[in-house]
Amino acid sequence: MLKRWVRQWLESRGYAVFNTRSPVGYAQDGLFTFNNDHFRHDAPFRAAYERGVRANGGVDPGTEWRVHVAMWAAGVALRVEGDFVECGVNGGLTSTAILERHGWSGAGRRYWLVDTFGGPVLQQYTQAEAAGGRLAAARDALQRGAYVMDVEQVRANFAAWAGVEVVQGAVPEALKEVKAERVAFLHLDMNCAYPERAALEHFWPKMSAGGVVLFDDYAYFGNEELARTIDEAARGLGAEVLSLPTGQGLMLR
Ligand SMILES: C[S@@+](CC[C@H](N)C(=O)[O-])C[C@H]1O[C@@H](n2cnc3c(N)ncnc32)[C@H](O)[C@@H]1O
Repeated sequence: MLKRWVRQWLESRGYAVFNTRSPVGYAQDGLFTFNNDHFRHDAPFRAAYERGVRANGGVDPGTEWRVHVAMWAAGVALRVEGDFVECGVNGGLTSTAILERHGWSGAGRRYWLVDTFGGPVLQQYTQAEAAGGRLAAARDALQRGAYVMDVEQVRANFAAWAGVEVVQGAVPEALKEVKAERVAFLHLDMNCAYPERAALEHFWPKMSAGGVVLFDDYAYFGNEELARTIDEAARGLGAEVLSLPTGQGLMLR
């Protein structure tokens, strides 16, 4: 019923809606589409996503399409030399799903996970981000207990895989603890422009050709200042970010 109404509404405004194969469409996490979301029914995807939700204390944030993109990006990065790095880990939903989906063995590479494990660094938000509501959102999330504060709980989750290194500290200072010579995959998910730019500029020279940078919130609504900052940094590195309808951003080395 809703689908028919949306189709009629779109057609009345000159848009044609094709291939509405999904019976209900995908409507979560800022993304509403009738496009084919068949990956959600693939057994390896389901098992990996559900393992990620377990790492996240059983809380499913409804980010399947984003995690699907992350799993794919990690698969591409596995074809090139280098370590994996995530800055902004929290309970570890995305990285856990990646490890599970790709049957991570730890052979030949390490997976570095960097977080304060104390929530965002409020002093790192710029005036523009504060004006856009990002600082208030971070404070609110902290108060709601949305961030994992127990690093030992995170270490216990990742103990299931070899070669995973959990680093506690604030980016950019903590980046010196990441002893990676080459990097194949960089996932940035700190929801704050300053540390994300710093991490991008820190790791870019170490990235292998064909390596992947994935920004979790580049195109997510409310993060316009983050996107502006990353675009500026990318231009300086001679690269460009692909904006994704999931809210993510993708950059290839
Ligand atoms: C949205 S959560 C990350 C979610 C995670 N990637 C997942 O898959 O569930 C953002 C995380 O970034 C961390 N963070 C924010 N600013 C940081 C900084 N400057 N250095 C290290 N961690 C930071 C927070 O502590 C929080 O755990």
